[in-house]
Amino acid sequence: MTGSNKPLLLDVKGLTVSFATDKGLVKAVDDVSFSVRQGEILSIVGESGSGKSVTLLSLLGLHDAKTTRVDGAVAFQGERILELPASRMRSIRGKGIGLISQDPMTALTPVYTIGWQIEEQIRAHEKLSARAARKRAIELLAEVGFANPAEAVGRYPHQLSGGMRQRAVIAMAISCNPALIVADEPTTALDVTVQAQVLDLLLRLRKDFGSAIILITHDMGVVAEVADQVAVMYAGRIVESGPAKVIFSHPLHPYTWGLMASIPPLTGPRPERLISIGGMPPTPENIPEGCGFAPRCRFARIECNARPPLRRLEDQAGLCVLDGDERESLRRTVLSLEVAA
Ligand SMILES: Nc1ncnc2c1ncn2[C@@H]1O[C@H](COP(=O)(O)OP(=O)(O)OP(=O)(O)O)[C@@H](O)[C@H]1O
Ligand SMILES: [Mg+2]
Repeated sequence: MTGSNKPLLLDVKGLTVSFATDKGLVKAVDDVSFSVRQGEILSIVGESGSGKSVTLLSLLGLHDAKTTRVDGAVAFQGERILELPASRMRSIRGKGIGLISQDPMTALTPVYTIGWQIEEQIRAHEKLSARAARKRAIELLAEVGFANPAEAVGRYPHQLSGGMRQRAVIAMAISCNPALIVADEPTTALDVTVQAQVLDLLLRLRKDFGSAIILITHDMGVVAEVADQVAVMYAGRIVESGPAKVIFSHPLHPYTWGLMASIPPLTGPRPERLISIGGMPPTPENIPEGCGFAPRCRFARIECNARPPLRRLEDQAGLCVLDGDERESLRRTVLSLEVAA
């Protein structure tokens, strides 16, 4: 675990992202704030469509500026990055922040070998000879689990399996030992053994280089294993955040209760949907004015038609009208916890 006295690396305040659509501007991310300290692992969790990828891609300047409006303030190592020119942002991405994107094909160019792509990435940020860059690319591919890395550098993306492509993207993202690694579902395409290897690798980077990591995942088991901090997203907002330990032991928000209650067993198949929460999350054009979760929340009441208040409990925060003893008792009912002695 990392202490909260480490310097701030990334500070996001009021990030709001809207897309121009046929129906006008629709908000996919609404007033999202969070921060990451050096060497810390923040996990962002939430159902499909909650805005996890949009949040990260827009703060990294990877959105389409023609159709996307991004408001708010983002500081990386003290520098405000939303306002930076594209060239400066490109240099921060890669050297300062490594992105492992959700779709490996968008990160790879089909016409070049993966070795060439990794070497280019390294040489764009570090003064290295072609030979040294090749050596480093082979080492990186070995680190991410390629059995024959010297042969793999010569392969084109289409000659790799989905899992291998994902690992090549990870090798590229970590090639310059970035201070922050942003990993959007980095293990989804991988089988369980490789998933474990990739997680071990991320943890080793944190240990050896003090890298901080933002890890987006659907897998609450992974979150429980590696995260220091957790942010729970629902319908474009962070509905709850705090240290992983308290989020797991004392979640504040009914949506988080549902997530906890739906954690799949360690063995056996993993359910795709959250079985304990009925219904579906809204799409950005249908997000209610008030609490986005209210239509699915069994504790919703009239106040939930207004924007929910931010409740704080030490390092934890939640967007919900529920409070105090009432919340405690409802949570115990949902999670069937023993009444504390
Ligand atoms: N360019 C775009 N224009 C319009 N809507 C978009 C655009 N990009 C994303 N969206 C919408 O924004 C919402 C949030 O998408 P996002 O990709 O962030 O979800 P997510 O939380 O990453 O989901 P998943 O877990 O499936 O990856 C979705 O409803 C998506 O359809
Ligand atoms: Mg996503």
